[in-house]
Amino acid sequence: MSPNEMKKLAAKAALEYVEPGAVIGIGTGSTVNHFIDLLGTIKGKIDGTISSSETSTERLKALNIPVYDLNAVGEIPLYVDGTDESNHYLQLIKGGGGALTREKIIAAASRKFVCIADQSKLVDVLGEFPLPVEVIPMARSHVARQIVRLGGEPVYREGFVTDNGNQILDVHGLSIMEPAKLEGQLNNIPGVVTNGLFAIDPADVLILGTPEGANTVY
Ligand code: 5RP
Repeated sequence: MSPNEMKKLAAKAALEYVEPGAVIGIGTGSTVNHFIDLLGTIKGKIDGTISSSETSTERLKALNIPVYDLNAVGEIPLYVDGTDESNHYLQLIKGGGGALTREKIIAAASRKFVCIADQSKLVDVLGEFPLPVEVIPMARSHVARQIVRLGGEPVYREGFVTDNGNQILDVHGLSIMEPAKLEGQLNNIPGVVTNGLFAIDPADVLILGTPEGANTVY
């Protein structure tokens, strides 16, 4: 079975968490795209969505699924998003698609974060996937030097601008033994907007697509 088919299985299993009349937080990426397409088949059942990126917004709107401003709604019952890596504590590395800041905001504003992925995303130790860090453009070199001090090898994602008008450093060479500690350390560097570790506040549920079906990891 291909990774894409496994992503689709995970997305389908996440539909079970959708409650009638709810506003749903929507992440970004190829796995979430499957979830958006499935939402299109039950759009009369939900109130609408909060989107984490211009790309997801475009896809939602093409399916006539309402997209609301986060400031216009209260606490969101459910957030569904993919991941680049998850450890067994459901701590994640996200941001391969560059949408990490809005993703982290919506995850924080949601009661339950259901993460969907193909089985290859589950790892013992985070860090093989380069950790994305969104930075204010003028601070990029300063932040990069601080990241080197922390043992990482930052690489500027050239030609990429986030939906917030910022830049991304992808940090290679990390074997992240204390994800929550590193998340806090990176957040404390002036110029860092967000880093892609979702460890202080991990996912609540991880659904992995496998050749045998969708496996839910709590
Ligand atoms: C985007 C993300 C995505 O969730 C992550 O990159 C996984 O993407 P995909 O579902 O395409 O494998 O964090 O910023």
